[in-house]
Amino acid sequence: MVKNIHHVGIVVQSLARAYAFWRDALGLPLVREAELPDQGVRAALLAAGHSEVELLEPTRGDTGVARFLAKRGEGLHHLCLETPSIDADLGALKAQGVPLLDERPRQGLAGRIAFLHPNACHGVLVELTTPPPGDAHAESPVRFKRLVIGCREPQDTAKTYHQIFGLPEVAVNDGPRSMLGWSGGGTLLMVPASEVGGTLGMAALSMVAPEMGALADRLKKIDAVMFSGASEITLKPEAGNNVHLHISRYHFP
Ligand code: CO
Repeated sequence: MVKNIHHVGIVVQSLARAYAFWRDALGLPLVREAELPDQGVRAALLAAGHSEVELLEPTRGDTGVARFLAKRGEGLHHLCLETPSIDADLGALKAQGVPLLDERPRQGLAGRIAFLHPNACHGVLVELTTPPPGDAHAESPVRFKRLVIGCREPQDTAKTYHQIFGLPEVAVNDGPRSMLGWSGGGTLLMVPASEVGGTLGMAALSMVAPEMGALADRLKKIDAVMFSGASEITLKPEAGNNVHLHISRYHFP
């Protein structure tokens, strides 16, 4: 049912400050920004190749996003998967007994959206969206490549995502890791939590860029770089709202 990783949602203190990193230094073009009063957030979507990055700033204290920020601080918050048929999919998930936060779709920034209960996906909050007809991802120089998820049992977690969403498996070298998604698009990489500092759930993002020079210069200017080489940059998590982000060079076909 799922055909793409639509976006990764990141909770931030301030959209204005987050733009300095994600839009201005990293170069992700702003697609749209809006206040969603019913969800108590001001949200923005930025283009990142076949997927997007969503920034969420709480506008009041009594929402899930505000509680997340108070308890855990800024950082990766949810994963959004794109489906052409959210109504049918929610019905099917409900029939299978998959725990849902939203039993009916509602209007979100990315289209008609609904959240599953985190228990459905081993602690990861997953959103489904059906974007409005004709809504296409914008061009961007830096593209989403992979979301790394820390797991107790990576094969077991991958099996759950495969069963619930029909996410295709992508071959990886033998070992404890498992990958789902589209090798030419975005992927989810399930790894043992011990490989990502004990984190269970969303742990890191990988992106790709066609050139590193100007990008590295912009990121160095705001003191965001932890390591930079000829074909890769590792960023300081504190520079990008506590997101562990790695960028590698890739010549887009
Ligand atoms: Co979202």
